[in-house]
Amino acid sequence: MSGSTLLSFVLLATSTVVRADYFSKDPLANKVVPYESIPYQVMTDTDDPRGFQTGYNQCNSTTENQDSMCQTAFVNHIDDFCLWAPPKPNSTIADTEGEEVAWCSKKGHGTRIIPAGAITGIQYVQTPSYIQIAGTINQEFLNMVGPDGGELDSGGQDGEGNPMGGLVYTNAFPSAGGNNATYIQAQHWSFFIGGTTFCAKICDQTGKNPQGLCNNVYDRLGCEYNAPNNAAEGVFEACKGDDMMPVGVYVGADGATSTYHQPASETIPIDYDALPYTPTPAPTSSCVSYASSALFADGAAVTAAAGNSVSAAAPSGSAGSAGSSGTSKAAGSAPTTAKGGSGSSSGSGASPSTTGTGGAAAIGVSLGAMAAAFVAVLAL
Ligand SMILES: *[C@@H]1O[C@H](CO)[C@@H](O)[C@H](O)[C@H]1NC(C)=O
Ligand SMILES: *[C@@H]1O[C@H](CO)[C@@H](O)[C@H](O)[C@H]1NC(C)=O
Ligand SMILES: *[C@@H]1O[C@H](CO)[C@@H](O)[C@H](O)[C@H]1NC(C)=O
Repeated sequence: MSGSTLLSFVLLATSTVVRADYFSKDPLANKVVPYESIPYQVMTDTDDPRGFQTGYNQCNSTTENQDSMCQTAFVNHIDDFCLWAPPKPNSTIADTEGEEVAWCSKKGHGTRIIPAGAITGIQYVQTPSYIQIAGTINQEFLNMVGPDGGELDSGGQDGEGNPMGGLVYTNAFPSAGGNNATYIQAQHWSFFIGGTTFCAKICDQTGKNPQGLCNNVYDRLGCEYNAPNNAAEGVFEACKGDDMMPVGVYVGADGATSTYHQPASETIPIDYDALPYTPTPAPTSSCVSYASSALFADGAAVTAAAGNSVSAAAPSGSAGSAGSSGTSKAAGSAPTTAKGGSGSSSGSGASPSTTGTGGAAAIGVSLGAMAAAFVAVLAL
């Protein structure tokens, strides 16, 4: 790993060659996988220098335990959703992005269960074109460590997704017809987690601009730009909402609509104080508040894995409270960068970056990631 890390910096200059070098012939985001016909593993490409899917997509009562390697996730409702997090304790997203597994709030999906106390606040917003969840976490309950977190999505540097072969479904898109047993695949989704926050968007393929609304090329901009939200610790609420503008698109002071492009290489620093716009969360309405005990009842039966620094004391912020989040600070209000070089991800929005340099990326246009893939090719 450290060898390729070094090399990937050296090879940055040639990484455009690398980019052409390996991209899946059968990218994850292009795969239409009806819930009824989920294969054991959705990944098919065995030539990928990054490796092969580490878990599986067929998940059932046999695979429902805290060692599950299930890589099929759901975002159904505020009381029934999953997060992607590492399979082993004390991990960073940057080191494990290809291997994350599904952790769900409810039993029944054949996955690990999110331990009670892991999520300390959440805002669930359903819009005409996507579902967004965002919130605050105690990341060590979910096998994570470190300040930066990272980005996961249905694209990935080689088109296989991060995690590789990760599938996402919901019964809440209009096409499910209000039937909880009807699950619709979200082909485009993006997800940030780590530090103290998470956010995710899953886009309805029959909605407006699924690729733009769930874009995966803004991985260094965190939750604030990718999933603008009003989540706050201690608040657990489900809302309806308007669609945001596609990620990166904004209306400037002159009234003109423009698009901000994240630098193509993570070696190009981003001056977070000089970004051309600051997103405002799209309007929400009909918010309903919940007690966390009502949302995470199944999580009371599981504990964080040994090997994480979880204190024995009751986690703060896990007691539910009702109330408005109108004045609260958004989860992931500042973008971050992670240490670069291993084809890893960055930008959980967990805490501000002081330098804005060196963030690696988990996306198709990430040159560092391409370079890492190229290194892997060389290593064969
Ligand atoms: C349950 O899922 C596992 C892992 O995908 C699979 O090997 C097994 O056949 C499934 N069992 C049933 C009864 O479907
Ligand atoms: C469907 O799921 C929602 C959200 O979890 C729940 O409130 C509702 O009761 C469920 N409907 C049925 C018929 O089970
Ligand atoms: C987590 O990992 C770090 C570095 O890899 C190590 O120093 C630390 O002891 C680990 N913590 C636990 C609780 O295992």
